[in-house]
Order: sequence, then C-alpha cells, then structure tokens
Amino acid sequence: MVSSDHLGPGEEGIIKTTFDTSRKIGTVVRTIQVKTNDPVRPLVVLRLKAKIVDAFHSSNLEPKAIFRSPCRSCHVDRGIGRTGAALFRADCMMCHRRGYVGKDILELKKLSKQQLKSAIEEGVKGTVMPGFSSRVGGPLTESQIRSLIRYIKEH
Ligand code: HEC
Ligand code: HEC
Repeated sequence: MVSSDHLGPGEEGIIKTTFDTSRKIGTVVRTIQVKTNDPVRPLVVLRLKAKIVDAFHSSNLEPKAIFRSPCRSCHVDRGIGRTGAALFRADCMMCHRRGYVGKDILELKKLSKQQLKSAIEEGVKGTVMPGFSSRVGGPLTESQIRSLIRYIKEH
C-alpha cells in the first residue's frame, strides 16, 4: 500500500507491505517492483530479506535430533521407503542446496564413493550432518544409502 500515488520531485512516501511467513523457513528474499513515471528510474526494485526463525530451528540441537519427533515429520518421514533421487529430495536437499548449510549435489559428486559412504553413514563431526545409517541410529538402510551414492555420482 502506497501512502500517496502522486509524489513530486524530492518528495517522500511510505510503502506498507505485508509478508506472510507461514510455511517458510530460513532466509527468504522477496522483491517489490515500484513502477513510476520518473524518466530516470522508471522502475525501482526493493529487496526484502528476512531470516525466519521458527520454534524448530531457533535453538542448536544435536544433529541426530532430526530423526526424532517432532523433527522427523519433515526430516525423515517423507523419505521412508524411498531411494535415489526421491530419497535425496526428501531427506538431503533441504540442507544440500546452493547457499545452504551443506554442499550442493554437484559438489558432493566430486567426493569419492568411500567419502560419500562414510559421511552419509556416520555423519560429519562438528556439523549438523548426522549419521543416517540404521547401525548408528539413523533412518536409512544400507541399500538406501547405496542408492544415494549411486544417484549423487551419476548426477
Ligand atoms: C516443518 C518442517 C520442518 C520441521 C518440523 C523441522 N525442520 Fe529442520 N529444516 C526444514 C527445512 C525445510 C530446512 C532447510 C532450511 C531452509 O529451507 O532454510 C531445515 C533445515 C534444518 C537444519 C539445517 C539448517 C540449520 O538451521 O542449521 C537443521 C540443523 C534442522 N533443520 C534441524 C531441525 C530440528 C532439530 C528439528 C526439530 C526440533 C527440525 N529441524 C524440524 C524443515 C523442518
Ligand atoms: C540438517 C542438515 C543436513 C541434512 C538433512 C543432510 N546433511 Fe549432509 N551435511 C550437512 C552439513 C552441514 C555438512 C558439512 C558441510 C558439507 O561438507 O557440506 C554435511 C556433509 C555431508 C557430506 C560430506 C561432504 C564432505 O565434503 O565431506 C555428505 C556426503 C553428505 N552430507 C550427504 C548427505 C546426504 C546424502 C543426506 C541425505 C541422506 C544429507 N547429507 C543430509 C547437513 C545436512
């Protein structure tokens, strides 16, 4: 909502905006385009950047917390029974994307199969990457982990 739709040269106005944070997590960027008849800058783009801190992600919990309730509804349950690309999208991509906490898939692809295997099975100390192997209390079977390694290397 704009305070006035007529502004003379040098005059100021206020633009009121509402931003709906529901179903959003982390850093979110939205742009607002202001179209005017200013001959020099007919279009001004305003960039709003917000870090949405929800009850789940505001505190530092140990990495394995994502495997338990209430975290598992987003971090584990959607991957149940899945393999390969679908499993990566359900369990891994929320963290492994460009600009997020984990390397994106093209970076992961550069690792050897052995490096992928040990990181996925055991986790990475000092990071929020937990060990996903059922042997260490994670949600994934050996064949699911093999399918992820294959998917990453063939990507
Ligand atoms: C409503 C779905 C949802 C729930 C519930 C949820 N997460 Fe997440 N989590 C996400 C998404 C989506 C991301 C990716 C971050 C982004 O998109 O900004 C994420 C990212 C993360 C990250 C990596 C980014 C960071 O902030 O370090 C951690 C760690 C994490 N979640 C832990 C948890 C824990 C612990 C819980 C339970 C207390 C939890 N999550 C519950 C959806 C969820
Ligand atoms: C809660 C966020 C989160 C989730 C979920 C997650 N990771 Fe990670 N992962 C990380 C972080 C953070 C690191 C350490 C930074 C990095 O190297 O990418 C990491 C590291 C790794 C590494 C080692 C990278 C290296 O350079 O040694 C691999 C391989 C990996 N993750 C694969 C996966 C796979 C496959 C999944 C899904 C089963 C997954 N991760 C799920 C956050 C996450």
